[in-house]
Amino acid sequence: MRIALSGYGKMGREIEQVAVARGHSVVCRYDSQEDWNNWETDHKNADVVIEFSMPKSVMNNIFKCFDSNHPVVVGTTGWFDQLEHVRHVCDEHGKTLFYASNFSLGVNLFFELNRRLAAMMHDHEQYEVSIEETHHQHKVDSPSGTAIHLANDIIDHLGRKDTWVNREAKEGYELGIVSHRVGEVNGTHTVKYSSGSDQIEIIHTAHDRKGFAVGAVLAAEYIHHHRAGVYTMSNMLNDPKFHGLMK
Ligand SMILES: NC(=O)c1ccc[n+]([C@@H]2O[C@H](COP(=O)([O-])OP(=O)(O)OC[C@H]3O[C@@H](n4cnc5c(N)ncnc54)[C@H](O)[C@@H]3O)[C@@H](O)[C@H]2O)c1
Repeated sequence: MRIALSGYGKMGREIEQVAVARGHSVVCRYDSQEDWNNWETDHKNADVVIEFSMPKSVMNNIFKCFDSNHPVVVGTTGWFDQLEHVRHVCDEHGKTLFYASNFSLGVNLFFELNRRLAAMMHDHEQYEVSIEETHHQHKVDSPSGTAIHLANDIIDHLGRKDTWVNREAKEGYELGIVSHRVGEVNGTHTVKYSSGSDQIEIIHTAHDRKGFAVGAVLAAEYIHHHRAGVYTMSNMLNDPKFHGLMK
């Protein structure tokens, strides 16, 4: 598979290593707005574009990929408030998009655990739920896309929260997400249920970026073989062909 990389920062570089190790080639790399000046010719020969850039550039880049009819895997976070619009354009014009707030297998297992725990806590109203996330100081968006995903799943399954807020909750219907940006740490997400007497916590800590990169390259392989549409991790994780590959 020939891959164009949009965003050649920490993730772009990691994805290149994983892609080459899996026998793919990287045919072009965009790392700034200017790099896209000749995009019509630069990524013409690519089979797929993998987009890990910045919240401010991601929408433009997605639409350029739609314009050139290239399937696009999007890992950039901070744009999910526009997801419905992008989904609509994608469906309307027969384009192909794979997006995920988090491409790692471990985090997707953690999502499942979070949904099940929220359903278990549905009838135990003495437990107050909250989310805490810590990332490196360069992360632009806050809260993280992963924390938003966790929060939306809790809202759907717990039954007593209407909305999330990026601070400690002040009202009973709010789900608080507290974000910390420190040093060069890898991401940690904690979901906490506290009653007056005790506390239950589930925690996911990433140790490196490779898990995200493997998921993104597999997603590129996945959409390379699929018809137009909008895909995300649940599609791939439920496909037997991809079982066991996310190591
Ligand atoms: N979904 C996931 O699993 C996952 C995992 C890790 C990071 N992320 C997200 O991926 C994004 C990138 O993360 P990172 O750690 O590589 O960040 P980074 O800051 O190291 O890299 C971003 C790169 O994008 C480049 N860039 C700026 N404008 C651009 C443009 N118009 N077109 C193309 N590239 C441009 C920058 O020069 C920079 O090198 C962030 O939004 C981050 O939150 C997602």
